[in-house]
Amino acid sequence: MKKILIIQPIHQEGIKLLQNNSEYEYEIVENTDINFLKSKIKSCDGVSIRTANLSGEVIEAGDNLKIISRHGVGYDNIDLEASKKKNVTLAITATANAVAVAEHVMFMILNISKRGNMYDDTVKSGKFNERNKLPKTVELWNKNILIAGFGRIGQALIKRCIGFEMNVFVFDPFVSEEFIEKRGGTKVEDLSETSKDMDAISLHIPLNDKTKNIINYDLLKSMKKNCIIINAARGGILNEVDLDRALNENLIFGAGLDVFETEPPTENNPLLKNKKVFLSPHTAAFTEECMTRMGKETVQNIFDFFDGSLENSKKVKL
Ligand SMILES: NC(=O)c1ccc[n+]([C@@H]2O[C@H](COP(=O)([O-])OP(=O)(O)OC[C@H]3O[C@@H](n4cnc5c(N)ncnc54)[C@H](O)[C@@H]3O)[C@@H](O)[C@H]2O)c1
Repeated sequence: MKKILIIQPIHQEGIKLLQNNSEYEYEIVENTDINFLKSKIKSCDGVSIRTANLSGEVIEAGDNLKIISRHGVGYDNIDLEASKKKNVTLAITATANAVAVAEHVMFMILNISKRGNMYDDTVKSGKFNERNKLPKTVELWNKNILIAGFGRIGQALIKRCIGFEMNVFVFDPFVSEEFIEKRGGTKVEDLSETSKDMDAISLHIPLNDKTKNIINYDLLKSMKKNCIIINAARGGILNEVDLDRALNENLIFGAGLDVFETEPPTENNPLLKNKKVFLSPHTAAFTEECMTRMGKETVQNIFDFFDGSLENSKKVKL
């Protein structure tokens, strides 16, 4: 019988898969303290993990550990070196969350451009008659959007942007012009140059040494004053201090953030008080449907791995 450790609870539909499979036993833990995880992982064959840190120390303590199954697609919380050294397979829920995140991005762009919070407050605070004095909203129609990163989420997002009749530009050095054009976008080679002409920019790239702080003050300063920037990828890709400064200096229109450099954001993070940002607590993928899909896929990936049928597209190259 294989032993699976579920670190941080997953959707009941995923648990049901484990309950109905007599070849597996499992334990769900909420405590993510290193020493606790080291003791728990020791006898496990596989692990499902959400956003908690899976450090090298914990991975090395897994004497029988063969697979780490990420509940999600980002894996910056996993020590890749340690996984590689131990010859552990890292799987992601590759097909589960692109639509949910892409919808969330549209929601953020729309909320900011339609001044959702301000207009809602106006009515609720009895100021309906002041509507003519409110700053105007803006349309998405015929506006330029840059999608940075054209993987699963970028490709789901372009369909929604085209639905709104936006002009879509794509920055992704690893994707061909032909592939992008077939999906209705225009490939661009230079992030800085293209950013200058955008009305919206949405980030869908991984966080790594090359992408950290890729959106910084100098870049923000070069953007159009009406530009809206969305980060539903990873905190740190966009520099938060620089963003706050750019918003306060009216260099761009607004920003939507689902992710933060430190999660939860620290109390003194200036963006928490900035009216020009619209925030969500890393919940872009938290639709009922997506949580069900991710819960099932994270478990199915473990089954498939041990059956020898885990698709390469779900394995992270270590
Ligand atoms: N907010 C959330 O809840 C949430 C949910 C899922 C994924 N994410 C994050 O969204 C991001 C994208 O996820 P995905 O599933 O689309 O990933 P993906 O791997 O399918 O796509 C990423 C794309 O980024 C491109 N890329 C890599 N480095 C780049 C660079 N330096 N410049 C431009 N393009 C670059 C790659 O070629 C690839 O096409 C990841 O950072 C992931 O962690 C966030």
